[in-house]
Amino acid sequence: MQNRQDAPIGIFDSGVGGLTVAEEVMRQLPNEKIVYFGDTARVPYGSKSKDTIIKFSKQIIRYLRTWDVKAIVVACNTASALALSEIKEELDIPIVGVIEPGAKVASEMTKNGKIGIIGTEGTINSHIHTKLIKEHKPTYQVTERACPLFVPLVEEGFFLDTNVTYEIAGKYLEVMKENEVDTLILGCTHYPFLRDTIRKIMGPEVNLVNPAYETARELKKMLSELGLAASAEATAGNGAGVTADLKAAEASSRMLSTQTSVGTGMHRFCVSDGADKVAHFAKERFPFPVENVMQVNIEEY
Ligand code: DGL
Repeated sequence: MQNRQDAPIGIFDSGVGGLTVAEEVMRQLPNEKIVYFGDTARVPYGSKSKDTIIKFSKQIIRYLRTWDVKAIVVACNTASALALSEIKEELDIPIVGVIEPGAKVASEMTKNGKIGIIGTEGTINSHIHTKLIKEHKPTYQVTERACPLFVPLVEEGFFLDTNVTYEIAGKYLEVMKENEVDTLILGCTHYPFLRDTIRKIMGPEVNLVNPAYETARELKKMLSELGLAASAEATAGNGAGVTADLKAAEASSRMLSTQTSVGTGMHRFCVSDGADKVAHFAKERFPFPVENVMQVNIEEY
């Protein structure tokens, strides 16, 4: 069995949106290997029941463990909101979700105590961000809004500044402007793809929080505290050239980060359907090369 430090990190999402989290992990933890799983056969998770999301998440974790992963990142906001606490109880390896890091940084960033959260129906109806924020800051005002059309817009490639995206986003975000939020959590893996449109509507002063950045930071801290962080030597031994301008990433805003370069020969990308389509999406939208995408029958796990 390999040294635990050399083992990969498992990252999963309902589909391709979680690549925004994988990207941040690869940028901030350039020595780590990742195994990414996107449940493209069963996406979207945002409108499914809690029981279904728990069942799917457990299957994916069983699959990721076949790669002997040392830790798990739940990149999907809906799965983090509905399944993380239940999965955590049964798991003997560390696991981190995207909700707590996003709520934490939003609480730190707001100046007027008015925070907005946008996400899928599952995430918003769980009220988990509001609970977490109010636990520490009971006087803060949290405005929640589900934006169910955002995921299909991104999936269909309407994430660039198109009129239809702008109009829909304008309707969804009206309440955020009315309630004068100064910090908005992009509580869904797909929403960073819409950041230009959201920025245009919310204006330059509003903080747009992409939880991916804080999640990667949290993961880094956790691996280091547990003595599980991969060493640069382990990466070199793996045959992949890795360079990363971490300083640039640290210096970049907490919401959206800068480009670094990472050799990706050591990473694995797996999906439950449409591997070719995902490889194409990754080529267009993912800043690191994805060499090949494996298709897995997740129902077997
Ligand atoms: N990955 C999901 C999330 O972050 C969005 C897509 C879906 O509904 O499955 O909540």
